[in-house]
Amino acid sequence: MKTLIKNGIFNGNKIDLLIVDNKIAKLQESIDEQVDKTIDAKGLTILPAFVDMHTHLREPGFEYKEDIETGSKAAVAGGYASVCCMPNTKPVIDNKYIVSYIIHRAKEVNLAKVYPIGAITVGLKGEMMSEMGKLKQAGIVAVSDDGCPVSTAQMMRLALEYAKDFDLPVLSHCEDKSLVDNGVVNEGANSSKAGLNGIPSAAEEVMVSREIILAGMLNTKVHICHVSTKGSVSLIRDAKKRGIKVTCETCPHYICGTDDLILSFNANSKVNPPLREEQDRQAIIEGLLDGTIDVIATDHAPHSKQEKEIEYQLAANGISGLESAFALCYTELVSKGRMSLEKLSYLMSEAPAKIMNIPCGEIKEGGLADITLVDLNEKYKIDSKKFFSKGKNTPFDGWEVQGRVKYTFVEGELKYEA
Ligand code: DOR
Ligand code: ZN
Repeated sequence: MKTLIKNGIFNGNKIDLLIVDNKIAKLQESIDEQVDKTIDAKGLTILPAFVDMHTHLREPGFEYKEDIETGSKAAVAGGYASVCCMPNTKPVIDNKYIVSYIIHRAKEVNLAKVYPIGAITVGLKGEMMSEMGKLKQAGIVAVSDDGCPVSTAQMMRLALEYAKDFDLPVLSHCEDKSLVDNGVVNEGANSSKAGLNGIPSAAEEVMVSREIILAGMLNTKVHICHVSTKGSVSLIRDAKKRGIKVTCETCPHYICGTDDLILSFNANSKVNPPLREEQDRQAIIEGLLDGTIDVIATDHAPHSKQEKEIEYQLAANGISGLESAFALCYTELVSKGRMSLEKLSYLMSEAPAKIMNIPCGEIKEGGLADITLVDLNEKYKIDSKKFFSKGKNTPFDGWEVQGRVKYTFVEGELKYEA
């Protein structure tokens, strides 16, 4: 099968791109060749398809929130060819049967590539380590207890030691539950105004510090999930300067949103860690620009209407993120002139692929044809009703954004067309 993408823009230059089967065969100013399909990409920018290293697909167990099929549709509609799914399913991804099930189901759905992340501890309970070797054999690409922090330093130490032996990235959800207490939003002026219990920045930073200290002691890698505070950015910046092997991600909602969004009491702004203050948001952007923050991941966390259209305190944590990630980040970072498109593309594709050891994330001859075509000039309003995801929970509904995903190819096959 041959597909020719004509007249696209790549790194600012006009280019034709030839796909043969699952690979990029040629990248040239002009290609004339007999092909099965031609796509006129005039005015469209060619990017490596995005890689989400932090997605919640919910299947098995919470199919009322999302399933592998709807989550995969959301992924390709968002420009993602690869998603790594977190283990807080029911049952938890802590045994090889669930890993095999997810891989098998994703192949049946045949849209995005789905890479399961195994649990660090059995049942995400923090008590007994999962069998990482067996999970790796079954196909996991990393381990995490995301959603539940690993509460003791001793368990995290063990996990880091074992994961190093199995060459598995450890993705840490940093949250000291004793400091969270019964908080539901960021602790600050807005939590007081809203009369909602606050979660201090320290709840994240205490555990970020712990992971940095452990990674240094063991001379091993650790990856910090969803960084949300100014303090975490400076801890990680300092650790990197000292040679600690720490990497981290932030999410579109910490780049674009602050806790001003809670003042409407719409629980679609409820997420864990919570949306923080403007100074945190600015520090996150600085961290992305200076290389402290390695990756933009979605933390796509779909929930049902029933779990969100209730009192703020009782609502579930999470934002449905796959289908708005690129446009939100492009609008906030690139349109406003703070970041180059190349850097944004790197943060959303190549950087996460490298951390997760997934062979994709770049446009190059001979590479896998995971490609997204975007119209960078198109402006539109985010409309969650149109999401393929079952999760319509986003605080960015109705926001005017720029940058529309038009086509997504996964290993040479067209999986999404707007
Ligand atoms: O807001 C969140 N939602 N944060 C997490 O860590 C977990 C996630 C979920 O699974 O809903
Ligand atoms: Zn998390």
